[in-house]
Amino acid sequence: MTSPSLSFPPDFFWGCATAALQIEGSTEADGREPSIWDDFCRNHPERIHGRATPEPACDHYRRWQEDLDWIGKLGHNAYRFSLSWPRGVRGLDFYDRLVDGLCARGVAPMATLYHWDLPSRLGSWENPAVPEAFAEYVELAARRLGDRVTHWMTLNEPAWSIMNGFVTGLHPPCVQNLDRAFQAGHQLMRAHHLALARLRSAGVRGKLGIALNLSPVRCAGTSAKDRRAARWADDYLNRWFLEAVVHGRYPQAAARRLRFEQVLDNPQPVDFLGVNYYYPKWVAHSQRPTQFHLNTSGQSQEKCQFSLQGRLQFVDSPRAEKTEWDWEIDPQGLEDLLLDLNRSYPGLPLMVTENGIGLREDPSCQDDPQRIAFVEAHLQAISRALAQGAPVKGYLMWALMDNFSWLNGYQKRYGLLAIHPETLERRPKASAEWYRRVFQTSAGSKS
Ligand code: FCB
Repeated sequence: MTSPSLSFPPDFFWGCATAALQIEGSTEADGREPSIWDDFCRNHPERIHGRATPEPACDHYRRWQEDLDWIGKLGHNAYRFSLSWPRGVRGLDFYDRLVDGLCARGVAPMATLYHWDLPSRLGSWENPAVPEAFAEYVELAARRLGDRVTHWMTLNEPAWSIMNGFVTGLHPPCVQNLDRAFQAGHQLMRAHHLALARLRSAGVRGKLGIALNLSPVRCAGTSAKDRRAARWADDYLNRWFLEAVVHGRYPQAAARRLRFEQVLDNPQPVDFLGVNYYYPKWVAHSQRPTQFHLNTSGQSQEKCQFSLQGRLQFVDSPRAEKTEWDWEIDPQGLEDLLLDLNRSYPGLPLMVTENGIGLREDPSCQDDPQRIAFVEAHLQAISRALAQGAPVKGYLMWALMDNFSWLNGYQKRYGLLAIHPETLERRPKASAEWYRRVFQTSAGSKS
């Protein structure tokens, strides 16, 4: 089944990604404090498909050993997980055991330090005290896990945190205000650089990076206004965070346009860039009223909408194949993105830290040909980018197992492992075995 066009370096990292809130459950165990997502789910159950909550998720907090056994059995040589900041110091006991368990199975532990579960007591990312509080937590994590974690990612998708938290208002804290979005984004970037400084001064052995959600922006119209809208989207969805991470400053012209005057003190370089890629953005000018909507039903007639009046809208791609959640499937976008990153930041190591497909699946059926086709096409795209010189170091599929998919609840399934909704029993899907064979037949496997 493996395509002959798949060719990867021998030291390539192969594995999956997860996030604490989406898999762990046990949200009140061992002194864990509430996060903004626990509160959001409790206060707005109607906004989440099936009124789902992050409890019990996959019950990974209690079943972690079984999950590590699966990772070992499936032959992965890397695993990206996130630390739950709301679990505080006591939670680090759990991650200590998890990291040991990964090392014992020959799997590289890759830790994300923040994946959207801000402790409620801190309010929101608008609070200027959050970056320092984060840096203190990071320092504790660094001292505890720094001898074994191979890759650190400070934040997951800061652009999405502000886009959904402060522009569309679909995620907590449910604000719709562009100025406030960029001020909150600045706190996220301060937190990122402070965290890198703390990791370095703690002398951790792993490589330091961040996981950014990045999408090639494609202009969907022919007018000058359409081209301006596409530039706007690229500037603020991609370049804003890329420049702040790689060069420690916001892109000048884009900052001037927003009259944004914040600067980043003591910026720190990254050793690698994590790339979360799902689909490209097709952008045109918009006169339509500002409106945001996400398809969370998985009914293909329900359209996602994003339009900022007088500025831009996301539009349907002219040629797209889409999932039932209205997400475009475009592997070419990943090749374009990786090549573009290598042109903009030559030689900066890249890691695909998320990529995968959400499907409606019967938990008792393990056949997932659509996932196999999706991953294979994206691996081919990476393989082409590698052949053209992009320094891609690994591929971490989203996700190891079906999980709590934020507003989509549990219906949108991304896992290599199916989780039975009642018994929480794990069963490998066909894609899990297929994925194992892919890297066994390409040089970098640990068979
Ligand atoms: C990304 C998130 C991740 C997951 C995927 C499907 O934006 O980082 O937690 O839910 O989407």
